[in-house]
Amino acid sequence: MTAMITLNNGLKMPLVGLGCWKIPNDVCASQVYEAIKLGYRLFDGAADYGNEKEVGQGINKALSEGIVKRSDLFIISKLWNTFHHPDHVKLALQRTLSDLGLDYLDLYYIHFPLAFKYVPFEEKYPPCFYTGAEDAKIGKISLQNVPYLDTYRAMEKLVDEGLTKSIGVSNLQGSILQDVLMGCRIRPAALQIEHHPYLTQEHLVQFCKNENIAVVSYSSFGPQSFLELGSKRAEDTPALFDHPVIKKIAAAHGKDVTTSEVLLRWATQRDIAIIPKSSRKERLLLNLNVNEKLTLTEAELLEISALNKNIRFNDTWDWNNMHFGSFA
Ligand SMILES: NC(=O)c1ccc[n+]([C@@H]2O[C@H](COP(=O)([O-])OP(=O)(O)OC[C@H]3O[C@@H](n4cnc5c(N)ncnc54)[C@H](OP(=O)(O)O)[C@@H]3O)[C@@H](O)[C@H]2O)c1
Repeated sequence: MTAMITLNNGLKMPLVGLGCWKIPNDVCASQVYEAIKLGYRLFDGAADYGNEKEVGQGINKALSEGIVKRSDLFIISKLWNTFHHPDHVKLALQRTLSDLGLDYLDLYYIHFPLAFKYVPFEEKYPPCFYTGAEDAKIGKISLQNVPYLDTYRAMEKLVDEGLTKSIGVSNLQGSILQDVLMGCRIRPAALQIEHHPYLTQEHLVQFCKNENIAVVSYSSFGPQSFLELGSKRAEDTPALFDHPVIKKIAAAHGKDVTTSEVLLRWATQRDIAIIPKSSRKERLLLNLNVNEKLTLTEAELLEISALNKNIRFNDTWDWNNMHFGSFA
């Protein structure tokens, strides 16, 4: 049984879950099903990942075989940028629920603080960076005039209607989060951010702790996840798996401790939940059981945090350079 954290709405959330980004469609249903059999209870998905039908198939197979009950699972999705207008927020969640084959989510995040122009489902789904045929021809993303708090308030109504138990925010910095807290009726239960030793986000993490908002780390291995996307920044950054400090700390805890475990445990000992993605059974088990296997010392935690370089691999300013053209 994986450790749980209690969210500010009283709901318990597993400290370790499985990230579903980049799980290929053809193997996704079986990987989710196998992960449930291994003991995973939290699945971090998103409409944008394009595999919600398959995630749902895996979940529903496990439910129908009685391996778990729905109440044992913690299912997450994210509202994509195209659906930020209050008229579209519920539609987007209904589409996600229909794809997953579920009645409710446990947590629904706003994926990014950027409102793209609306694209109807029939035109392209998931729309990703597509904001219309004309924009696509010139590689442009059009934005929509929707303030963040308007989207957030539409998310609150989803909780009222029982379509999701909690709502959260992702990829936010402190000032917008502060604004949400000033204007919300239901506080965000969680903030999901890029977080690894090259991007420790100390102030934001501390702010969330003070405000009783759970922090969830994505891309906990730093550049690793972005290599397969051909990111030059990831290629130019030394791998955390081979970093001498991480290797030294892993070695200090015994021969069978890996650098991946050190990276994950550093996060969870900072009270930050983790959602590493893996398609390999041995890694799934390693990642799931990291809290029981390893405890780092206070000095080791600080030594790892000192590796911070404020390097962000998932940076929306890059989207500007690529698509909006404003900084060309
Ligand atoms: N909110 C957002 O904007 C946002 C953005 C990015 C990600 N996320 C979420 O966060 C999740 C995790 O982030 P991520 O997918 O970027 O990356 P990640 O989990 O940090 O890294 C995944 C990579 O690490 C490898 N890996 C996994 N476990 C390993 C281990 N024990 N030892 C060595 N290598 C290992 C995987 O390869 P194999 O599959 O071959 O094992 C894969 O290449 C995503 O799946 C998604 O749910 C959210």
